[in-house]
Amino acid sequence: MAAKLSLSFVFSLILCFSSSSSSHDGIDTYIVHVQGSHKPSLFTSHSHWHNSLLRSLPSSPHPPTLLYSYSRALHAFSARLTPSQTSTLLLHPSVISLTPDQAREIHTTHTPAFLGFSDNNSPLWTNSNYGEDVIIAVLDTGIWPEHPSFSDSGLDPVPSTWRGACETAPDFPPSSCNRKLIGARAFYKGYLTHRNGSTRSEESRSPRDTAGHGTHTASTAAGSVVFNASLYQYARGVARGMASKARIAAYKICWTGGCYDSDILAAMDQAVTDGVHVISLSVGAKGFAPQYHKDSIAIGAFGAMRHGIVVSCSAGNFGPGPQTATNIAPWILTVGASTVDREFTANAIVGDGRVFTGTSLYAGEPLRDSQIPLVYSGECGSRLCYPGKLNSSLVEGKIVLCDRGGNARVEKGSAVKIAGGAGMILANTAESGEELTADSHLLPATMVGAKAGDQIREYIKHSISPTATITFLGTLISPTPPSPRVAAFSSRGPNHITPVILKPDVIAPGVNILAGWTGMIGPTDLDIDPRRVEFNIISGTSMSCPHVSGLAALLRKAHPEWSPAVIKSALVTTAYDRENSGEPIEDLATGGSSNSFVHGGGHVDPNKALDPGLVYDVEARDYVAFLCAVGYEFPGILVFLQDPSLYDACERSKLRTGGDFNYPSFSVVFGSGVDVVRYRRVVRNVGSDVDVVYEVGVEAPGNVEIDVSPRKLVFGKESRELEYEVTFKSGVIGSVPGLEFGSITWTDGEHVVKSPVAVQWSQGSVQSF
Ligand SMILES: *[C@@H]1O[C@H](CO)[C@@H](O)[C@H](O)[C@H]1NC(C)=O
Ligand SMILES: *[C@@H]1O[C@H](CO)[C@@H](O)[C@H](O)[C@H]1NC(C)=O
Ligand SMILES: *[C@@H]1O[C@H](CO)[C@@H](O)[C@H](O)[C@H]1NC(C)=O
Repeated sequence: MAAKLSLSFVFSLILCFSSSSSSHDGIDTYIVHVQGSHKPSLFTSHSHWHNSLLRSLPSSPHPPTLLYSYSRALHAFSARLTPSQTSTLLLHPSVISLTPDQAREIHTTHTPAFLGFSDNNSPLWTNSNYGEDVIIAVLDTGIWPEHPSFSDSGLDPVPSTWRGACETAPDFPPSSCNRKLIGARAFYKGYLTHRNGSTRSEESRSPRDTAGHGTHTASTAAGSVVFNASLYQYARGVARGMASKARIAAYKICWTGGCYDSDILAAMDQAVTDGVHVISLSVGAKGFAPQYHKDSIAIGAFGAMRHGIVVSCSAGNFGPGPQTATNIAPWILTVGASTVDREFTANAIVGDGRVFTGTSLYAGEPLRDSQIPLVYSGECGSRLCYPGKLNSSLVEGKIVLCDRGGNARVEKGSAVKIAGGAGMILANTAESGEELTADSHLLPATMVGAKAGDQIREYIKHSISPTATITFLGTLISPTPPSPRVAAFSSRGPNHITPVILKPDVIAPGVNILAGWTGMIGPTDLDIDPRRVEFNIISGTSMSCPHVSGLAALLRKAHPEWSPAVIKSALVTTAYDRENSGEPIEDLATGGSSNSFVHGGGHVDPNKALDPGLVYDVEARDYVAFLCAVGYEFPGILVFLQDPSLYDACERSKLRTGGDFNYPSFSVVFGSGVDVVRYRRVVRNVGSDVDVVYEVGVEAPGNVEIDVSPRKLVFGKESRELEYEVTFKSGVIGSVPGLEFGSITWTDGEHVVKSPVAVQWSQGSVQSF
């Protein structure tokens, strides 16, 4: 099935002229992918060669400028080029493709206990010594080095394998780095070219985090233990990263104008050189994920994976629509966001006595308890409460109900405050459903779900003098509402690039997460917010990704021989899909059950992942074979073949289709006459017993018959790896159903190795079996 590939192919070259941003005289920044193996030996380094390629271009009033030369995670360089220079480069036999530099965006603690790290004896913590000496690269907005989460007290000297650096600057002295924060670098050459050479005044061209996001994600992944941490009175307790003894290397790639591919690739390339073990990247494409060979994060992650590095990424906050997940390449660990069992409850009580439960992190003077006049923003000039759009004479001294959407939630409260309002009830609309996000509002405010919002709007409409008040109940850890539940914003599958790869892989805490913050801006991130806090509570798949990055570090330490694919497999097959109430995990966007296109294998279960029983492994050449099997051709696939040992991966592949790829989950696509598909899998026994028998259990989706062969796997000393085949038959007659879900579970009585099964039908699949 795999197309026969050889390097004698004539390269038909690709150039994507999409979204060119700040071009003057047509000059733009490009990533130029080259065949590393073509480097003539007279050049001592790839950057010499890249420079010479640029110098060989015809002379021009605009000589090309090289920004970065990449040689570890990928073979490429980035440069400022005129249109005629790009055309000339494309004719060069060593140039594979040119892609315009593009901006990505950031996907914006009690969680250890929720994850099952209930005490210091938790198996994964003790078996990994809290991830000691594992190095996590956090590619983000930089880091606030003075934060107590980056204290190195009790840590051993920096691991001898570390080859990175602490880049200093006036606002980032050498003392910024220590045994916890072992490296810090800033990448802005790409960003600068899009800003005409100047950063914004509030930004620092150093690794210092002036935005907060990078400090939050780094402390979530690997922050040291901090007692009595809180945001004002909220979430007080012990804050700690998932791998509290892992080391952090901060790579600042995101700036106020976004995170540019050229800078992201430079950081990934450097992280490989520096010797990191895990890359945590809470950044992704805006909108739909690009094709893998045009997606710089996918390309850089491939190179990192080839060096044994786990790349853990956020799925994005573009839910709840289908196919919204980004960072969906099979070699990436893709993480969605869910809730935990902690609430910051603030009730809205309306004049007729009804109480609507909401959430808030407001920390100032409370409202006086008596009822206050209540108005709807839609009657006061701005349904979404845009700043400057509310009529002061209508909102003065009143509580304003604002609709969610359009602008930042805290900005709505600020708009109400500036217009003279006394408080705000922020109400979801159908789009955001029942998902609640706690914010540290600048005025007394709470946020309620869509159902409560509708009832309060009705109440206002039908009352002669509507009133309300808000009462703040603080932090409640409680089994109600049940958790985890998937956030409405969490991006979802199906995977629109390779539908046979189920995405996201797992979900992890991403709603109302307490972690470290920058000293540069307030908790609301608004210029008008003068407050400064040590910890902040924010939400996003940006927050769930570093949880899993930290878990990957722990697993890596506990099982140094595990590949990135095995670590992913362990997390996916041990994840759970039930809330703490016993019910299926709810999707907060719909109020109904979530599914595998929303939560992948389910919520991570770290202590179970330590001992998964069986694992699904793959290596770099298997991914190449997969790309061929799903139809990737030259030249696109060349960007992944940096290593000549991968050149024959497609020819020698045993994959019949992309579905045979040894992924720990199943995504089945029926359609256009295809109503039977067969997927092959190979499992390796990594349990403590060499001789063990696993039996299969099948939960078949509706309209689908599943047959597993063999149904019993007998492992022994000589047979640690065994193969099985699954036949999926569509039983659909007539109209095509939506999506269906099930699972395939292997168990030896002790381990439960569960793979989710997701099935979709494309039009035209109407035969019965
Ligand atoms: C850069 O300069 C160009 C041309 O003067 C201008 O159109 C563009 O807005 C500038 N970009 C930024 C980010 O200042
Ligand atoms: C925790 O910090 C707060 C101030 O943020 C302080 O009032 C309180 O005494 C501290 N508690 C402990 C046990 O240190
Ligand atoms: C604001 O509301 C008052 C009272 O209804 C009205 O007289 C005034 O015209 C409104 N102002 C604007 C700018 O709409």
